[in-house]
Amino acid sequence: MSSLLIPYLFICLLVSVSSSAPQLCSQHDAAALFHFKSSFSLYGVLSDYLACELAGSKYYPRTISWKEGADCCSWDGVACDPLNGHVISLDLTCSWLRGSIPSNSTLFLLRHLRKLNLAFNDFGDSDMPSEFDRLAGLEYLNLSSSSFGGHVPPQVSHLSKLVSLDLSGNYAQTLDENTLEALVNNLTVARHLFLDRINMSSIDPNLFMNLSSSLRSLSLKECDLRGNMSGDIFHLPELKLLNLGGTKT
Ligand SMILES: *[C@@H]1O[C@H](CO)[C@@H](O)[C@H](O)[C@H]1NC(C)=O
Ligand SMILES: *[C@@H]1O[C@H](CO)[C@@H](O)[C@H](O)[C@H]1NC(C)=O
Ligand SMILES: *[C@@H]1O[C@H](CO)[C@@H](O)[C@H](O)[C@H]1NC(C)=O
Ligand SMILES: *[C@@H]1O[C@H](CO)[C@@H](O)[C@H](O)[C@H]1NC(C)=O
Ligand SMILES: *[C@@H]1O[C@H](CO)[C@@H](O)[C@H](O)[C@H]1NC(C)=O
Ligand SMILES: *[C@@H]1O[C@H](CO)[C@@H](O)[C@H](O)[C@H]1NC(C)=O
Repeated sequence: MSSLLIPYLFICLLVSVSSSAPQLCSQHDAAALFHFKSSFSLYGVLSDYLACELAGSKYYPRTISWKEGADCCSWDGVACDPLNGHVISLDLTCSWLRGSIPSNSTLFLLRHLRKLNLAFNDFGDSDMPSEFDRLAGLEYLNLSSSSFGGHVPPQVSHLSKLVSLDLSGNYAQTLDENTLEALVNNLTVARHLFLDRINMSSIDPNLFMNLSSSLRSLSLKECDLRGNMSGDIFHLPELKLLNLGGTKT
């Protein structure tokens, strides 16, 4: 009897193991993501709901469905490299996140990220940490309308693979001249730069003249830029969109 039962149990065990979905997600990245999620409270506000609707993005708390132990590559807003399970994209736009991102946030352990979107959350006018430069593989960074304050950290200019950078709509944030100069010189493959409604009152608009020749869109609405901008900006060969609405040039 028992000699028949043992192989039978063994087969059942094999079947149950092979029928559960293989875990793709790197455990290191899953832990970092889960800790990041847990560092925020979730709080929806009407003004962000309306802004997200207008931007064509659904306003709901994406991280609420994340379950510890499940494959993080299947979590809402997360995408992985199918070859090694590293998280390469995190899109938590319009996700009700409320809190701040401290310099020791586990977000900065996601070293394989290529795309990060945290637009339309509420970081309560806290500083944008300089540790964003640890995410050196980023090609797309979108932190628009997420209530960052303080100064844009100069280290953002180390992200030299950025194709698209959107920091617009952070009214309480200031962009300093040195930081802009470093951005202009280092973001050599940038195609889209959106810096609307950031405080640029100390910036010489001519600094934008040395922008990457690959630039396709440049948006600087309501930035409090002052001074005369040379017509040379129009010689950027690929430029299709230039928005300077509400600036006093
Ligand atoms: C940033 O994200 C917002 C919200 O999803 C979107 O409306 C905006 O177009 C994005 N910016 C860029 C440059 O992709
Ligand atoms: C970050 O530092 C604070 C104290 O400064 C600490 O309470 C927190 O646990 C740290 N977080 C992580 C993820 O290490
Ligand atoms: C440009 O980026 C590189 C890394 O890609 C960094 O080492 C360097 O300091 C950056 N330069 C500026 C002016 O930010
Ligand atoms: C913009 O920044 C300057 C300093 O660079 C400051 O004097 C001014 O008050 C800021 N404007 C706003 C609207 O915060
Ligand atoms: C643009 O770059 C050139 C050399 O690459 C430099 O001589 C010039 O001063 C720069 N212009 C601005 C406005 O930074
Ligand atoms: C901008 O150009 C106008 C006309 O050429 C001139 O009157 C004005 O003083 C200039 N402003 C600055 C800040 O250079």
